[in-house]
Amino acid sequence: MKNQENATKYYDNFSKIYDFVSSKRYYHKPRQYAIEQLELKEYQTVLNLPCGTGQNFSYFQNYLHQTGQIIGIDLSDGMLEKSQRKIKNHQWKNIKIIKADATKINSNWVREHLNEIKIDVILCDLGLSGFPDWQNVIDNLLDILTPNGKIVIMDWYIEKPSLRGEFIKWIGKGEVNRPIWQYLQTKVEQFKIRTFKQGDIFVASGRK
Ligand SMILES: C[S@@+](CC[C@H](N)C(=O)[O-])C[C@H]1O[C@@H](n2cnc3c(N)ncnc32)[C@H](O)[C@@H]1O
Repeated sequence: MKNQENATKYYDNFSKIYDFVSSKRYYHKPRQYAIEQLELKEYQTVLNLPCGTGQNFSYFQNYLHQTGQIIGIDLSDGMLEKSQRKIKNHQWKNIKIIKADATKINSNWVREHLNEIKIDVILCDLGLSGFPDWQNVIDNLLDILTPNGKIVIMDWYIEKPSLRGEFIKWIGKGEVNRPIWQYLQTKVEQFKIRTFKQGDIFVASGRK
C-alpha cells in the first residue's frame, strides 16, 4: 500500500516531464506494433490501462476515426490531467478517463463504473512491471474482455541484472524481470510475441 502511494506520488510529479522523458519517439515502434496487434476496428471499445498521459490515444484514433470508445484508466491525477489536456486540445469526444487502481479493475468494477460495456480489446502498456499483484491484474483483464477479444501487453523484460535494467527500475519505479509474457502465454489463445530495443521491450498478445 505504501509502495503504491509512493508510486502514485512519484507519477504525479513525473507527469510534468513524462512526455519529454518517455518520448513518443523512443516508444514509437513498439507502441505502433502493439496497437496494430489489437486489430481495433471502428465503433469498438478499447480499454487502456494504465493510460498515463494518453500517449496511445492518437494511435487508437488512427483505427477508430473518432468512433467507438477509448477508456483510459490510471491512478495518478497528474498523469490523468495531461491526458485530459490532450483530449481537450484534439477535441476528441470518444474518450473516457477514469481514475482507478489497476488492482481493483474486475467484472464488479466494470459493472459499477462502465455499465457492463463490452470491452473489445485491451492494451496494458508499461504498467504490469510496476503493479502489485500483477498476475491477478492479468486474470481480471481477461475476465472483463469480451470472448475472442484481443489483449496486448507491452512492457520491459530484462532477465539478467544490468545497468540499463537498474536505470529503468529507478525511473519507472517497477521491476524489469517479471515473467509477464510467460504468464500471459498460459492464459490466452493465439499467443504471439515480438521484442524491441535489443530485446528489452516485448509486445505480447493473444485472444481470450
Ligand atoms: C510508465 S507509466 C506508463 C503510462 C502509459 N501506459 C505509457 O506507456 O506512456 C506507468 C503508469 O502506471 C500508473 N500506475 C501505477 N500504479 C498504478 C495502479 N495501481 N493503477 C493504475 N495505474 C497505475 C502510473 O500513474 C503511470 O501513469
